[in-house]
Amino acid sequence: MNETSIGEFDIKDPGLAQDGKRRIEWAEREMPVLRLIRKKFAEEKPLQGIRLVACAHVTTETANLVRTLQSAGAESLVIASNPLSTQDDVAASLVFDYNVPVFAVKGESTETYNRHVRTALDFHPHIIIDDGSDVVATLLKERIKQADEIIGSTEETTTGIVRLESMERAGLLPFPSIAVNNAQTKHFFDNRYGTGQSTIDGIIRATNILIAGRTIVVVGYGWCGKGVSMRARGLGANVVVTEINPIKAVEAVMDGFRVMPMSEAASVGDIFITVTGNRHVIDAQHFSSMKDGAIVCNSGHFDLELNLVALRELSLSPITLRPYVEEFALLQGGNRIIVLGEGRLINLAAAEGHPASVMDMSFANQALSVEYLVKHRGELKPGVHLLPEIVDTEIASLKLNALGIKIDSLTPEQLEYLSSWEMGT
Ligand SMILES: NC(=O)c1ccc[n+]([C@@H]2O[C@H](COP(=O)([O-])OP(=O)(O)OC[C@H]3O[C@@H](n4cnc5c(N)ncnc54)[C@H](O)[C@@H]3O)[C@@H](O)[C@H]2O)c1
Repeated sequence: MNETSIGEFDIKDPGLAQDGKRRIEWAEREMPVLRLIRKKFAEEKPLQGIRLVACAHVTTETANLVRTLQSAGAESLVIASNPLSTQDDVAASLVFDYNVPVFAVKGESTETYNRHVRTALDFHPHIIIDDGSDVVATLLKERIKQADEIIGSTEETTTGIVRLESMERAGLLPFPSIAVNNAQTKHFFDNRYGTGQSTIDGIIRATNILIAGRTIVVVGYGWCGKGVSMRARGLGANVVVTEINPIKAVEAVMDGFRVMPMSEAASVGDIFITVTGNRHVIDAQHFSSMKDGAIVCNSGHFDLELNLVALRELSLSPITLRPYVEEFALLQGGNRIIVLGEGRLINLAAAEGHPASVMDMSFANQALSVEYLVKHRGELKPGVHLLPEIVDTEIASLKLNALGIKIDSLTPEQLEYLSSWEMGT
């Protein structure tokens, strides 16, 4: 832990700040919608006097979100939402160039990660920007008295929303929470195109393997799984999908992928990618039937999608072959299973996460959600809320505008037709 004029912070290396600043500014060029919001926020200062904690992947895009919130008058503190997703140069630049206290070090232990979550609560935020719901869950478990200080929270990812909905069902969620992930301008693009591209990017950066001709098993055909499957096929892979939802499974079949249960896919795949948000979707029996040299990774929010505890029990001590590449030799039969990025989100562990152009819309949703919560302070019931659809549409319109793409609008005649039941053929 270190201290400057902004108070305490915990980052890897202050000397990385200059590199971080250059990369933050590079990402900013690809974030026109967020830039527009920042300009508006700088004029209107809608977050004056608001203390805000951002628990996020500490990336160049997150830095631009934090700059946007700062321009609105908010005082922010940043922590990592995953022990392996911090970009240390960005963390340093946030501290030294933008005066934001950051508590995030790439590769931090689970204990340090949890300590940073508590540090975030010590900041006594009015708003929590969460990614995976660890800050809100810790508040419920350990700091419930602080709930009265919170105006509301926003949640970035699918897994976090699953947790918030479970808190809501149990009658435990004490404030409104905006499900940013559920905005169409978030999951249609970030989960599908962002995860699709960056997951494959992470695998290639970690291993430098050729994708063409490999059999890639994508576990889960939700928004992320669709994107990963699409991009893997684009590089020439034979894609196999596993699912538990019959509708998603039919969708995968009609999209042209082979679908089978994991018990069959385990012996067929060369590379396995989990994106389910669920626990132990690759388990002991699956590792045991994999080919020698099978590569396994996860791009879902938590590392528990792979049962790595079981894999450790089945194997000799792992050997690190390259950064983010560990080999586990099975005690029975000797097959080698290669695990990437310790089972943590491979796109953030071994690559840089989603490209800025897609995070532009996700973080426009975040910035406008925070403004919405503050504007409607005291009016929203405790529970999980969506941003109004009009905001979603406005973000898409701004994105199209920034891309220089025009679309049609309804003529008065068409408007009348669409609102009438009387006109048929
Ligand atoms: N890597 C990233 O940057 C990134 C980005 C966005 C979301 N996420 C995370 O990725 C995960 C998936 O998100 P999503 O938006 O695609 O969710 P989703 O709900 O759209 O899809 C998840 C899919 O997994 C399926 N599934 C559940 N259990 C399964 C099992 N045992 N076997 C096979 N399939 C199973 C579900 O039926 C569903 O279709 C979540 O944890 C989310 O938080 C990661």
